[in-house]
Amino acid sequence: MDILVYALYIVAFAMFILGLSGLTAPRSAVRGNKIAAAGMAVAFVATLIHIRETSSWLIIIIALVVGVIIGIPPARKVKMTAVPQLVALFNGVGGGTVALIAWGEFIESDGFTGLHVASGPVLPLVIASLFAAIIGSLSFWGSIVAFMKLQQILPGHPLSVGRLQQPLNAILFLGAVVAAVIVGLGSVSTGADPVWFIAILVVAGILGVTTVLPIGGADMPVVISLLNALTGLSAAAAGLALNNIAMIVAGMIVGASGTILTNLMAKAMNRSILSIVAGGFGGGTKGAASASSGDQIAKSTSAADAAIKLAYANQVIVVPGYGLAVAQAQHAVKDMAKVLEARGIEVKYAIHPVAGRMPGHMNVLLAEADVSYDAMKEMDDINGEFSRTDVTIVIGANDVTNPAARTDPNSPIFGMPVLNVTESRSVIVLKRSMSSGFAGIENPLFFGANTTMLFGDAKKSVAQVTEELKAL
Ligand code: TAP
Repeated sequence: MDILVYALYIVAFAMFILGLSGLTAPRSAVRGNKIAAAGMAVAFVATLIHIRETSSWLIIIIALVVGVIIGIPPARKVKMTAVPQLVALFNGVGGGTVALIAWGEFIESDGFTGLHVASGPVLPLVIASLFAAIIGSLSFWGSIVAFMKLQQILPGHPLSVGRLQQPLNAILFLGAVVAAVIVGLGSVSTGADPVWFIAILVVAGILGVTTVLPIGGADMPVVISLLNALTGLSAAAAGLALNNIAMIVAGMIVGASGTILTNLMAKAMNRSILSIVAGGFGGGTKGAASASSGDQIAKSTSAADAAIKLAYANQVIVVPGYGLAVAQAQHAVKDMAKVLEARGIEVKYAIHPVAGRMPGHMNVLLAEADVSYDAMKEMDDINGEFSRTDVTIVIGANDVTNPAARTDPNSPIFGMPVLNVTESRSVIVLKRSMSSGFAGIENPLFFGANTTMLFGDAKKSVAQVTEELKAL
């Protein structure tokens, strides 16, 4: 029987890895997701076989049904812009589960005194369980705060106690470690009082809250990815304690992929993970709405003028950003592209790795409107093309086009790779005002000699331009 269980687990791991490799490209992402989900179903069946006692099956199946009833409707109905908070919630549930597993193990084994497996020393298993308890609880409460910020139940801007924030977090971390040491020492004698285990969960939970509260709402995707990695590592630790290979492997895959994603996002934003966790940036602050900067004045344009410029172009590059997602302008953009293409104009889409508010945000939005994957160009592939482009139309994007990242060493985003929009012959920027984007800084692109601004909601502006194009 055990051989069957192991064989099924190996099949499941292979499916997880195959699924992950599918997620590396938009075209194969849906298939990858399905393969990984099927892998999880295989692991689930293997676990049922492993448990053997059919009495426990009933509880597991009831939990499964409850989970399906609660989980599937929000996952199906969620709006694209609300995916980060849904991920935060799902991730939090994972962390909470791990913390509860550690608690269950503590109670079952009389304060870890009875914790032993066929071979191997007891203390590493106790340490793994305590790690799972601390990180699981931190991740659960941190994810709940992240969810509440993104859902605007809590204010999105950083909430901190100023200079006392870091010492407070350090004290809480030490408190959780001290309680864990007391429980650990108890496990080699008569077992620690359960109060100490509860103290670990409570203090680590408070640490999760105080760590995430000072982080700006818009930094949350990076933080969620970090919490996701931590949940994976805590699940792997819980797997060690339970001697469950499936949990160890799945936890490590989540931990490793979450860490890689966190690093990639931080790198693309030119920020260190430490500076993101230290908080205080990206709180959604809006820069002064001014149509002039020094002696430079932003020039506004009309849909009719924008349409004329576009109609006489050979190549047009569309740069989508967060505002396109807010306005849900993806279908309108596709309609505009169709009209341009019908006139023989080549339309390409320039995708910055951190455009929007989550990884792959723009790819997913455009794919929803049936924009072909071949037309979506990654930053490195398209940056050389702006100089041969007649019109670049920037739709609800701001920071990812900011030339100060290349030219102004004093800019907070200096060094962040950006789209070389300024090199194109003409730039039309679609946004509602002169407000700044996520980074809260002015964008010199708006004052460029070859830039004009088409003010208004992106969806309405694009639709107006399309109407004007049709009328030409
Ligand atoms: P942003 O720099 O945030 O700019 C978005 C712009 O969209 C705003 O300036 C806003 O200007 C405009 N906008 C909002 N609603 C609009 C609407 N209905 N119609 C038209 N325009 C609208 O966006 P970006 O260029 O995509 O850059 C993303 C930023 O988010 C980067 O700084 C990145 O580091 C950060 N970030 C990204 C991620 C990931 S993983 N993608 C995660 C965390 C943070 P108005 O208010 O004037 O309209």
